[in-house]
Amino acid sequence: MTTTATRPGSARARAAIAAKTLRTDRWWFAPLITFVGLSAWVIYATVRVFMHKWYFVETYHYLTPFYSPCITDRCVPDAAHFGTPLPSFWLIPEAAFTLPFLLLFRLTCYYYRKAYYRAFWLSPPACAVPDGHKTYSGETRFPLLGQNLHRYAFYAAGIISLINTWDAIIAFRSGDGFGFGLGNIILVGNVVMLWAYTLSCHSCRHIAGGRLKHFSKHPVRYRFWTFASKLNARHMMLAWITLGTLALTDFYIMALSAGWFPDLRFVG
Ligand code: FES
Repeated sequence: MTTTATRPGSARARAAIAAKTLRTDRWWFAPLITFVGLSAWVIYATVRVFMHKWYFVETYHYLTPFYSPCITDRCVPDAAHFGTPLPSFWLIPEAAFTLPFLLLFRLTCYYYRKAYYRAFWLSPPACAVPDGHKTYSGETRFPLLGQNLHRYAFYAAGIISLINTWDAIIAFRSGDGFGFGLGNIILVGNVVMLWAYTLSCHSCRHIAGGRLKHFSKHPVRYRFWTFASKLNARHMMLAWITLGTLALTDFYIMALSAGWFPDLRFVG
């Protein structure tokens, strides 16, 4: 039976429904897929980051994004574009300067927040399904208060995308000249998707066009805001695509570096 409970001072309160949810569709499917997908990616990335090998193909200068920039003194000299200021200790990843910022960027991303709040914390698992917790404080307390750092993580992610772009450019060097293979296509494709994801960020959109009173007086910002808005509509898709391209790029470079198969070369 459905009754309506009213709270003093509230014009309309929620209906008191005995059933946990009235939804009869497979509402649990999306959070389940998200849980499996994100867990698999995190396990793969963690294993790779602490493997400390098979991250660079010397012949073609392919460096996996999981190890870029390579800055421990374990790094192959040609892969260390920014020097090697850190010692080699197995708990220190080769990309120790960038990985924490990338992690912060993804963890505080508006889309990923929705994804892991639903799939991991069940808070709530889906629309019109009760929260898995008795109390709810939103993002008003530590540690979730830290989600506000997203804008700063966006700036760091922009710099890291520039570094990944540089990695993709110098990978066109083969021996002493120009070279081009399937690895280049994968590296460039990954960088393009990383830029699309980064520029589709809600913070990027706000930085471009937020707080403007007159778009007509800021035509350049307006154009960039329009561009970011179009990408922003596909932010969830780009979030998943980039997880895929990152894993694919890393796996391909690992396979070449380990000698599992050769690169498909078109030039050089
Ligand atoms: Fe997802 Fe900024 S909102 S990266």
